Amino acid sequence: MSETSFTPGALDRSATFYVAGHRGLVGSAIWRRLEDEGFGNLVGRASSELDLKDRGAVFEFFAAEKPRYVALAAAKVGGILANNTYPVDFLSENLRIQTNVMDAALEHGVERLLFLGSSCIYPKLAPQPLKEEYLLTGHLEPTNDAYAIAKIAGILQVQAVRRQYGLPWISAMPTNLYGPGDNFSPTGSHVLPALIRRYEEARLSGAESVTNWGTGSPLREFLHVDDMAEACLYLLENYDGPEQVNVGVGTDVTIRELAQTVADAVGYRGAIEWETTKPDGTPRKLMDVSKLTALGWKASIGLDEGIRSTVEWFREHQDDFRK
Ligand SMILES: NC(=O)c1ccc[n+]([C@@H]2O[C@H](COP(=O)([O-])OP(=O)(O)OC[C@H]3O[C@@H](n4cnc5c(N)ncnc54)[C@H](OP(=O)(O)O)[C@@H]3O)[C@@H](O)[C@H]2O)c1
Repeated sequence: MSETSFTPGALDRSATFYVAGHRGLVGSAIWRRLEDEGFGNLVGRASSELDLKDRGAVFEFFAAEKPRYVALAAAKVGGILANNTYPVDFLSENLRIQTNVMDAALEHGVERLLFLGSSCIYPKLAPQPLKEEYLLTGHLEPTNDAYAIAKIAGILQVQAVRRQYGLPWISAMPTNLYGPGDNFSPTGSHVLPALIRRYEEARLSGAESVTNWGTGSPLREFLHVDDMAEACLYLLENYDGPEQVNVGVGTDVTIRELAQTVADAVGYRGAIEWETTKPDGTPRKLMDVSKLTALGWKASIGLDEGIRSTVEWFREHQDDFRK
């Protein structure tokens, strides 16, 4: 029996829905999905308009807008280098952003809230594929432990609100995401957008070869962000439970296969080489998505198709993507 006030079913399309981080990769996809689904009262603020680290400003915003639903996709996000170099920023900023938003949402009685984390919350040496129940069963990967601890605190805050106030708030943990709106900057990007940029630049310059770090053998999972956005709404309408839900495709590819798929999508014809003395990272990282599958949702955008459309987006947005 549920301890909360949850009734499964469609959310009210006329209610005010706040998407925190609506200009980011995930937030912008959630926004598009909600628009397509007929939500007519979406609210979003750029960080330049509303800094979510500013507690007073966050409470004023909630008092003025009174959202009924919230998707919390605002966070300080970065690759391994940024996480490892600026752990204080990743810990402190993310704790402040999520605590301010959830505290204000609680004060204003937000009925449904979805908190987003990531697969880095699971222990470094947890068995693969990663099941939800592995949370807090071992030590974290040290290079992004600060970020992971902030995200784990967010999951705990959602659970505490459920327990103390009976609000049916939930958490979702996506695998690696990609798609329109991604971060293509050489210092801040994840592997897939970094490869797209590298191969497109190599094609344009006529480079004979492109060298990637490592052996190319690690296995990784990639989910298109439009699938992620669909899953977010699905969970808000159908899931009520304290445990976070993994969101992924449930299958993985080697980085070598990924590089070839990107090269094909971009039309790069040169050689693909590997600097095998560079570190490979974790050999495999795959989400167990059986909980989500049992709830009735699965991803539908294939990796080839998703990468092709992301390359198109990248080409069409040369002036406005994050560099
Ligand atoms: N990308 C992935 O592969 C991936 C995978 C798993 C989980 N996730 C999770 O999904 C969530 C969103 O990630 P993302 O990839 O969409 O990141 P993103 O593209 O970098 O977007 C993050 C958004 O957060 C906003 N933001 C950051 N600091 C803020 C502040 N102080 N005040 C207000 N807004 C602030 C930014 O707003 P402005 O643009 O206005 O500055 C930005 O739009 C994160 O919780 C992340 O852990 C992402």
